Amino acid sequence: MKTLQLLGSFLAAGCIYFGQVATALPASTSTFTSAGTTTTGTAFESDAYSLSDEGTSTSTSWRAWPTLDPKLDVGRAVAPSFNLTYLGSSCTGYKVMNVSESSTGVQATLQLRGDACYAYGTDYKYLQLNVSYETEDRIHVGIYDTDRKQFRFSEREDIWDAPLYHDASYPKDRKYAFHYNEDPFEFWVTRTSDNDTLFDTRGQKLIFEDQYIELTTNMVQNYNIYGLAETIHGLRLGNNITRTLWTNDEASPLDGNMYGNHPFYLEHRYANQTNSGKASSHGVLLLSSTGMDILLREDYLQYRVIGGVVDLYVFAGGSNGPKDTISSYVNAIGLPAMQQYWTLGFHQCRWGYQNISQLEEVVENYEKAGIPLDTIWSDIDYMYKWRDFTIDPISYSGEQFRTFFGNLSEAHKHYVPIVDAAVYAANPSNKSDDTYYPFYNGVEEDIFLKNPDGSLYIGAVWPGYTVFPDFINPNVTEYWKNALYNWSRQMTDEGLGYDGLWLDMNEASSFCIGSCGTGKLDQNPIRTQVTLPGDMYDYSFEFPEGTEYTNASEYQVAMQGQKLQDAATSTAVVIPTASPSTKAKKSEDRNINYPPYAIDNEQGNHDISTHVLGVNATSYDGTARYDIFNMFGYGETKASYKAMLELAPNVRPFLIPRSTFVGSGAYAAHWLGDNHSKWSNMFFSIPGAMIFNMLGIPMVGPDVCGFIGNSNYELCSRWMAMGAFFPFYRNHNTLGAISQEAYIWSSVAEASRRAMKIRYAMLPYWYTLLYQAHAEGTPVFRPMFFEFPDEPSLSDASRQFMVGDAFLVTPVLEPNMTTVDGVFPGDNSTAWYDWYSHEAVNRQYNQNVTLDAPLEHINVHIRGGNVIPLQEPGMTTFETRNNPWALLVALSPNGNADGFLYADDGVSITPNATLSVSFSALNNTLSTYVSGTYAVEQPLANVTVLGVSSAPQSVFFKGQNISSYEYNNDKQELVITNLANLTSQGAFSQNWTLTW
Ligand code: GLC
Repeated sequence: MKTLQLLGSFLAAGCIYFGQVATALPASTSTFTSAGTTTTGTAFESDAYSLSDEGTSTSTSWRAWPTLDPKLDVGRAVAPSFNLTYLGSSCTGYKVMNVSESSTGVQATLQLRGDACYAYGTDYKYLQLNVSYETEDRIHVGIYDTDRKQFRFSEREDIWDAPLYHDASYPKDRKYAFHYNEDPFEFWVTRTSDNDTLFDTRGQKLIFEDQYIELTTNMVQNYNIYGLAETIHGLRLGNNITRTLWTNDEASPLDGNMYGNHPFYLEHRYANQTNSGKASSHGVLLLSSTGMDILLREDYLQYRVIGGVVDLYVFAGGSNGPKDTISSYVNAIGLPAMQQYWTLGFHQCRWGYQNISQLEEVVENYEKAGIPLDTIWSDIDYMYKWRDFTIDPISYSGEQFRTFFGNLSEAHKHYVPIVDAAVYAANPSNKSDDTYYPFYNGVEEDIFLKNPDGSLYIGAVWPGYTVFPDFINPNVTEYWKNALYNWSRQMTDEGLGYDGLWLDMNEASSFCIGSCGTGKLDQNPIRTQVTLPGDMYDYSFEFPEGTEYTNASEYQVAMQGQKLQDAATSTAVVIPTASPSTKAKKSEDRNINYPPYAIDNEQGNHDISTHVLGVNATSYDGTARYDIFNMFGYGETKASYKAMLELAPNVRPFLIPRSTFVGSGAYAAHWLGDNHSKWSNMFFSIPGAMIFNMLGIPMVGPDVCGFIGNSNYELCSRWMAMGAFFPFYRNHNTLGAISQEAYIWSSVAEASRRAMKIRYAMLPYWYTLLYQAHAEGTPVFRPMFFEFPDEPSLSDASRQFMVGDAFLVTPVLEPNMTTVDGVFPGDNSTAWYDWYSHEAVNRQYNQNVTLDAPLEHINVHIRGGNVIPLQEPGMTTFETRNNPWALLVALSPNGNADGFLYADDGVSITPNATLSVSFSALNNTLSTYVSGTYAVEQPLANVTVLGVSSAPQSVFFKGQNISSYEYNNDKQELVITNLANLTSQGAFSQNWTLTW
């Protein structure tokens, strides 16, 4: 009782200080019988969807459901092998037999040199070496068991396909050479131009066992590598870390394995690390879909993979800079899907919008506050009892949806709801579950994953016991498409209603180990969480670092509450201790539940089955999830992409999956998953987005203002401003935390308005970058070392970032600051201009500059040498697209600049028309070179030229003398206005020149 009182008073204090009441779930016991809406024209044969039950998902009724025993989500305590005595010491590697070399590669048989060593499995006596000189830049080294027993992911084009399977041209001119020693077998790949060694197994042995493959490359001193995602880490991985790849639903564990898996790294070497004395980059992909540890050590990097074969790709790169290597990699795995124009707008989301009126209110509040908003999102709140493809008949009824969509589309705004990977498994003894067609149809189509004995694999996620679509089943797209379609028919009579899909929980997360629901479906729905955020015992008392100083008294109250809650929960929820570890025996049969080599899985007690769809979940063709563990999200993403394309032909699907894999970018964007409302998490989102831009997923961003815990005005102001410069820009918040929409605090509102004014003005530039990523694989959001690859001090610099090659953003990443330090790279041939004042930055080579950074201001600088196309910012992307154009010409110190603009309808996969405009400024003349037929109708309003060293005598546009210009000598800025009359046919309807 006392606890309750204190928590109550805390909340009251919170109300006063933080300006709103923490969200609470309403106590509703309402009974309803709703027919929902009929599913006319659906491919499902089930009855019209109708529901009849005692409560809704947003009500408290779920608390009455029986609860899943939390013990069921606790795995065995497993000791990660990399920390234990190494068992591979007696392994002696392989030797080469029967070599054949040709212009396309090298083939050989490898034979075990000594006895099997059974390090962490059973050795293969014979292996096949298959080296292919696939492209000018890319070599493929394949090492396979001749028995063909191992799962060969690379032979399953039905489940993963990429250009690298089809683009081999075996050119004569290659950037690399392959070398090997015969006994023991060792190989190394060099770059021919400078003889640098890129991958080198000399002195390291190969171990190839059924459940353990060890492959090691020597590394240069102080190597700089980036990638091996997904994890929370600084930009550069360093050389004393073990990276584990194993999909895992866990909120931002530092250095631990997380949602996605990308066994690719970019290595960048500086002059002192190369033979040529020039900085150079290359890339390495070990294409595998099962678990691995990657040991990064002082002078070597070691892969320890728990299955499959070796499919190693080396991208030779060179001294053209890291962007070039990334482009080569991304071209091989699949160029990023082009995104729709509106997706570049600002998105608002939260868990806990309890009904449609709240969504409408949020949209309205943005409007009232004068803060742009393009998209409003729904979390699982809209579902009926958190079941996929349903809507809550009371709070989110079809009728309400129809009005809501009408209003949104009138305002040119969009809606993106969540879809979870797991599907509620209907209770056979509960009549009201009978019409849950996503389950029954899936059973009928035999689309769900099975246990090895052929029964349904039944895990547990939000709605209770759940089944999981088998996303490698060839029929799954049809099933998924029908589910998406039928769902949309509940919300709208035309089109789909939703404009994109948020694909969550697709690691796939499961809140119990194994098929815990087998034989228990008659208990469904069960409650799978003891409490939800915001519940008693699960209040969030977390605040950003520094809140103890800025809001001391409220913080004290919060800490009191935290203590009481901790005391209360230590008895309220009993988490069982784990059973001791068992070591697997070597045998003919694999032990997939507890492989002999235990990867360093971050989750729980390192048991690889904890909190995730288990390793023995089996696909339609008998494939165990063990072998394709890391690509469930990829499968769902691909199926969703295909389904969406069928449902809305030629419209670029907008998909935001949580779990990604190599090549996911060809279908989707990504958000960085559950983070915390902490300054540290704000910082980590920068390297996070940089890395995904190296992995071919350029459209990426974090939960701005932080997801878990309460945000505060200071963190949220800074984060909203910084987020405006990330490709994907969404504010998202957890259930039960205090509200954090941009209009809640005045400083946040102001910071957001100011930053969004830039973001929306930059839309043509953003869109062009997305297009270049889509066409060439170049990253959008870049670390400085991508642009300044010769400068070693930038190898790990990620407190600043670049958007394209023109924008440098220097955010404040700490509380209580009014200034921020930043570097402005480049020598005297580089100029940097302040976005707001247009003044050139006064700086010394390689030294920090201290910049003013009041709370509502974010520092943005433009690199000289760029022409940036802009449009007058509106309240939506639609409005902005219809506003006049402007050009910002930031001259380099030698008076040059160039730039590029790409435009199309912003929607179609294959647009009817496109427009490309190249800009070039040279000798006081700006010229355009227009090609393509897409008509940009809006006029050019003005051109601003920075770095103009003397006042012009006259200004000519399209050959006409222009009088409407102003020159500012102090700033060396020339502003030419009133050009609209001369461009009334459209800013870029023809080539023109501007001379000053
Ligand atoms: C997961 C998602 C989070 C979402 C929540 C409820 O934790 O990562 O974004 O709000 O589930 O659906």
